[in-house]
Amino acid sequence: MRKLNGLRKTRDGIDIYGPDAFLGMQAAGQVAAKILDEMIEHVFPGQTTAEIDRIIEEKIKDSGSTSATIGYRGYQHASCISVNHVVCHGIPGDKKLKDGDILNIDVTVIVDGWFGDTSRMYVAGKLSRKSERLIQVTHDALFKGIEVVRPGATFGDIGHAIQSYVEGNRMSVVRDFCGHGLGRVFHAPPNVLHYGRAGAGPVLEEGMIFTIEPMVNLGRPETKVLADEWTAVTRDKSLSAQFEHSIGVTANGFEIFTLSPAGRFHPTYDAS
Ligand code: MF3
Ligand code: CO
Ligand code: CO
Repeated sequence: MRKLNGLRKTRDGIDIYGPDAFLGMQAAGQVAAKILDEMIEHVFPGQTTAEIDRIIEEKIKDSGSTSATIGYRGYQHASCISVNHVVCHGIPGDKKLKDGDILNIDVTVIVDGWFGDTSRMYVAGKLSRKSERLIQVTHDALFKGIEVVRPGATFGDIGHAIQSYVEGNRMSVVRDFCGHGLGRVFHAPPNVLHYGRAGAGPVLEEGMIFTIEPMVNLGRPETKVLADEWTAVTRDKSLSAQFEHSIGVTANGFEIFTLSPAGRFHPTYDAS
């Protein structure tokens, strides 16, 4: 008999987990979220994303957890750092951040076998008005999606809530990347689309665990992956933002595993 990750699987192949899993996910989510809290002071003009990643790797080690990304499909870093028009999977490197750059830092750790996956937006120096608006809409879009989550709602309801909010603000939702189930594995069914029709898709059940991680562009939604085979950018070079939480479906709604212990999920910068 094949070992199940959760208590059982739905007919869509989605694991249903019990209370022990929720405790494990909380522990993992809190380690990842605390590391993101501690990165705020390390983001500034002149800083390199390689140095940010080095600090993250050190913090993961110090916490006694394991990086889920180092060695994942050949990826070699403890974080993805996606600057300006990079949509996701930005590879840390030696390029210096410039005043006004916006960046997503995405960290996934493994604690006692459970995966905690979260990302949020940072700014180097002074935030422009248009970047501020993009980041605010992306953050609020994530929460429009999260607030739909309860048993009986559908994954299409989540996508629809996000898409209608983003497009109502004349921005676009990236279609080429999605959220995912997770738990004792990094990426599991279902694909959590950030667009869709109300009522479509699998029905949410208590015990499901997944991420919601909308990527929002100021311009068009199309992306392309660079020759490094990881870095995804907007085709039209427009700015892109993303926020990610790992969540579980509870009897009445949702639990966010990756809440910031310091209350600094958003904004990570001082609001002007
Ligand atoms: N953390 C990313 C996600 O949200 C996945 C990164 S995989 C990596 O699913 F290999 F690029 F790090
Ligand atoms: Co994720
Ligand atoms: Co992530």
